Amino acid sequence: MSISKALNRNVTSQNTIEKRLRMECLIGATQIIAPSTGSDVVKGLTQTSKSLPPCYFYDNRGSELFELICDLPEYYLTRTETIILQQYAGEIAKITGACELVELGSGNSTKTRILLNAYQQLDYPLHYLPIDVCAGILESSAKQLLRDYPLLQVYALAATYELALAKLLPTQLPSRMICFLGSSLGNLTPNECSIFFSQITEALQVGEYFLLGIDLRKSKQILEPAYNDSQGVTAAFNLNMLEHLNQQFEGNFDTPQFEHWAFYNQNEHQIEMHLRSLRSQIVELRALNLKVNFALGETILTEISRKFDLNIIKQELTTQGLLPLEVWTDPNQWFGLLLCQLQA
Ligand code: TRP
Repeated sequence: MSISKALNRNVTSQNTIEKRLRMECLIGATQIIAPSTGSDVVKGLTQTSKSLPPCYFYDNRGSELFELICDLPEYYLTRTETIILQQYAGEIAKITGACELVELGSGNSTKTRILLNAYQQLDYPLHYLPIDVCAGILESSAKQLLRDYPLLQVYALAATYELALAKLLPTQLPSRMICFLGSSLGNLTPNECSIFFSQITEALQVGEYFLLGIDLRKSKQILEPAYNDSQGVTAAFNLNMLEHLNQQFEGNFDTPQFEHWAFYNQNEHQIEMHLRSLRSQIVELRALNLKVNFALGETILTEISRKFDLNIIKQELTTQGLLPLEVWTDPNQWFGLLLCQLQA
């Protein structure tokens, strides 16, 4: 092929990608559009039991580290959910018919491809709305998807779940399915969880779908290594949150002075992830006009990861008007995938 032809072809395919991509940023690393951003950090670090909002995990580096976590031998969640999705994606597509796929916390959209393949096989139009707090990964994965699926249209939203759900326009397709995979539901407290469910029901019309992937209760011997991997990737991921805060809020966290600490709280059925201060120290976040004291051994709770009982969650979804139509698991019953439909 001549150089001009090659260039031309490249330009044409770029154009079509641009035409099929719409992207909107409701939050950003440098420009803070969401008024709550930053005040959540102040609130978390000035409480007696310190905590930080998990959305600060996901800057570019954090998103990369999270992708590495998903491939770790100890982190069975992604692999198991993928197997379930591969097995039932065809069935999901048949049940929902042509529909717009909305994905909360889309990351690199790897699992979405399984769904897109199933909808493509049935010749349904492909409309995908990935939502993620990390604009960098959102854009790169959207572009990769558009290259791989020539008929796909993407409307990407860099936003928190809450902002994005409030912002969704009516779909142009017969239906919509909101996907919430990877057991991210477990990262919400029970109270946040019920608020989240009502935001989901607000964003759906009666008859539309909610696809939920959740990690199920199992022994501590399996759970704890998934959050304490031998290569230290989870530790690096947890500690990266401090680097992200340094960057975003002119902070001076000295990350080697903190360590990763995660354990399974059996009474609460949740993994609790902390950063522990290795000495007494004062940290400053200049952009937030904030100085924080840490005692030796004091911890910041960065994440909980709740583990679910299928019957309890089914009951809760039903109460919220999201009727589980199908519940799928793997042979070990380690992970659950629920296809729910909004009731009148
Ligand atoms: N939703 C994932 C989970 O609960 C998030 C996650 C996995 C995570 N590994 C982590 C969050 C390590 C913080 C640290 O499993």
